[in-house]
Amino acid sequence: MEKGRVLGIAHLGIAVQSLEKDGRFFDLLGLIESHREEVASQKVMASFRPVGGSSLELLEPTAPDSPIAKALEKRGPGVHHICLDVDDVAAVLARLKAAGVRLVNETPFEGAHGCLVAFVHPAATGGILLELSQAAGASRPAPDQG
Ligand code: CO
Repeated sequence: MEKGRVLGIAHLGIAVQSLEKDGRFFDLLGLIESHREEVASQKVMASFRPVGGSSLELLEPTAPDSPIAKALEKRGPGVHHICLDVDDVAAVLARLKAAGVRLVNETPFEGAHGCLVAFVHPAATGGILLELSQAAGASRPAPDQG
């Protein structure tokens, strides 16, 4: 079978000012944090709250030049990106690139959970910042970007 298939929605990324403060609402819903991780490449602290087969990913910036700090400045808190789970992120990127799709990252890099991720520009997706994520342990090439 051809590689580069979308397997599901991995998570919805939500920009927040404070994981502690803004996480309380999700606690009320019973969506309890399962995992917290600093993602150095994106200068964020990510908090994952599973919902069914996917998750909410609350994102708090750890530096003023974090993409999330910039998003909070420009648009305020709210949905920042949608992340699709794919079987082979490099294969998907190659297909999109060949079709002339505008990418944020031409090369996948390591995101939370050791996933290999890359972002597609909103101009190409109907206005959604789209993250593609390949689970750690899935067959993958050596990442060449931190
Ligand atoms: Co994400």
